[in-house]
Amino acid sequence: MIFLAPLQGYTEYFFRNAYARHFGGIDLAIAPFVSLVKGKKVKLNHIKDLWPENNRHMKIIPQVMGREPELFITMAKALEDLGYDSINWNLGCPIRQIARKKRGSGLLPWPDEIDQILSEVIPQINIRFSIKTRIGYESVKEAGPLMEVYNRYPLEYLVIHPRIGTQMYEGEVQMDVFEQCLTVSKNPVVYSGDIWNKDIYRDLCSRFPGLKHWMMGRGLFSDLFLPEKITGVFDEKNMNERFWAFQYDLLEAIQERMRREVNVLNKTKELWTKWAGMFKEKDGILAMIYPVKSLSEMRKVLGEVEHNFCLKP
Ligand SMILES: Cc1cc2nc3c(=O)[nH]c(=O)nc-3n(C[C@H](O)[C@H](O)[C@H](O)COP(=O)(O)O)c2cc1C
Repeated sequence: MIFLAPLQGYTEYFFRNAYARHFGGIDLAIAPFVSLVKGKKVKLNHIKDLWPENNRHMKIIPQVMGREPELFITMAKALEDLGYDSINWNLGCPIRQIARKKRGSGLLPWPDEIDQILSEVIPQINIRFSIKTRIGYESVKEAGPLMEVYNRYPLEYLVIHPRIGTQMYEGEVQMDVFEQCLTVSKNPVVYSGDIWNKDIYRDLCSRFPGLKHWMMGRGLFSDLFLPEKITGVFDEKNMNERFWAFQYDLLEAIQERMRREVNVLNKTKELWTKWAGMFKEKDGILAMIYPVKSLSEMRKVLGEVEHNFCLKP
């Protein structure tokens, strides 16, 4: 299976829906995390990204961040009420302000606490449970004890991003450690990290022939056709038309979600920095898009890009 990675700020419902309407190759997305919140009830506005009516086009698993079992259980029940049958726990986020509070990857040096939380939460929820983890926070030595804990529970998936927390998203993915985790895991593993192109994917498949689940994040944003390319459904014919139909659809979806013009423009510019490399003329295109000051101008500039440039084959 091919998963869309959760990328906070990028893969919210406006993107997921527009993407699913124009591109193939993705089977399932893990949504960007929602934080656990105090109280006996979860306010619906807090989980707007997860409302079923906002998720008609792509199947998702909601993800939560936090470590209070009673809040976890309340959130799981709220999600169950919305119709979800599966939840994912974020043990990977490396952002320092979050990790400092022993959340995300900041909890990884405490496998006993993770064990305690899992032993309280899993028996009390009615939906399937999965984890997205790194291979440690400060050291890969944390990976062994973590795998022992994960193996005590029947997880739907164990998504592994083979970096430690302090690496953030830089430096090498540590494939030997990933291999050790994969070898000992009793749960179905999903690989996440640095699949930038088809060749990298092919190499990973030949190194791990038994691995069935792959997650695409930044690679997908640098080439929107990548999931189609790796699953073999890509067709070069009409790729420009499809790319542009997606762009205009997405712009409308962002407008609907954000309303304030300056926010829509900033989000559009930010997204274009990710996929402008799909064109040979990347720098020129960004130089056209960055100075844009209104939505009508943005539409005009995108129209000029569309008529003057073609995607790299
Ligand atoms: C901007 C950004 C936001 C992210 N947000 C989340 C998140 O909300 N939850 C999560 O589990 N991982 C998050 N990640 C990690 C990705 O899901 C993924 O594991 C990581 O980027 C490595 O995969 P990639 O190289 O395919 O992007 C985020 C990564 C980035 C770069």
